[in-house]
Amino acid sequence: MKKKITLIGAGNIGGTLAHLTLLKKLGDIVLIDVMKGMPQGKALDLSQSAAVEGFPCNVEGTNDFSKMKNSDVVIITAGLPRQPGMSRDDLLETNGKIIKKIGLDIKKYCPKAFVICITNPLDAMVYVLQKYSKLPVEKCVGMAGVLDSSRLKYFLSVELNVSINDIQTFVLGGHGDDMVPMVNYTTIGGISLLDFIKKKKIPISKINKIFDRTRMGGGEIVRLLQRGSAFYAPASSAIQMAEAYLLDQKKLLPCAAFIKNKYGLKSMYMGMPVIIGSKGVEEIIEVSLSSSEKNMLKKSIKSVQGLVSAVDKILK
Ligand code: APR
Repeated sequence: MKKKITLIGAGNIGGTLAHLTLLKKLGDIVLIDVMKGMPQGKALDLSQSAAVEGFPCNVEGTNDFSKMKNSDVVIITAGLPRQPGMSRDDLLETNGKIIKKIGLDIKKYCPKAFVICITNPLDAMVYVLQKYSKLPVEKCVGMAGVLDSSRLKYFLSVELNVSINDIQTFVLGGHGDDMVPMVNYTTIGGISLLDFIKKKKIPISKINKIFDRTRMGGGEIVRLLQRGSAFYAPASSAIQMAEAYLLDQKKLLPCAAFIKNKYGLKSMYMGMPVIIGSKGVEEIIEVSLSSSEKNMLKKSIKSVQGLVSAVDKILK
């Protein structure tokens, strides 16, 4: 039977998610937005590409949230994107209220779905989503680490003049300016990045600049676009997570997942490497960290904790 994938938010990321879902033939789509006519228009446009692309899936655009009923996967981008000069955290109040309502809808209509949140500020939004949807924590995740790692891979591939497909790396922590790029776990064709640095193929100062550019990667695009934020790479990243679930790929991906008694955390959502398969988040992988990575992670945890308590106060 075909899978049902609901995309809540039919804006830039939502539309791109729909297109990728169809091209990859992952299932039928329901595209939901509060804006009248827009999801219906996008659905019609996408449907009219079926004859050319040859996908066997249907797409329906609607303003009716009950249409998410019995979805297998839900991906959420509803909310405001950043404008130039805004940080992700500036979206907390507006997007927090939107995600709370969507959480309650998910509880009502599709409590068995695997749900991926993309709306920012990501780590706080995925917390709100799980709190109000009451989804099992392994079925409620946030997309950030795949995107941040993908940005890092791109910058490294350009600098080292190496195929992006040969680069393995990931980032830990929240989806904010204090995310933690993992230099010790970065390899190029299986060779440690540390070897490249030792052999003076790339100076450490360049690596640090790349890490900074990765941390600010979203902001760089916001400034260039002048209206709205990145959407192609965020959509591709979320589709990789959805695919891992739908096809039981057991993929090891950095995601905002519920961490309990790992990395010194009692219990909270935080970006960590996890395995995604048909049960959702099937395992959280704990890696050893250097003392500077531990310190950076602590800072990132603190800022996410601050956002979580602020959003709890707002939504009371
Ligand atoms: N329910 C459903 N959709 C909503 C709601 C709501 N309550 N409120 C707003 N929307 C819709 C808007 O009408 C818009 O079509 O969400 C859509 C968001 O689309 P864009 O403005 O194009 O933003 P996008 O680039 O897709 O980013 C969405 O993802 O990466 C994050 O920071 C980004 O929080 C932002 C989100």
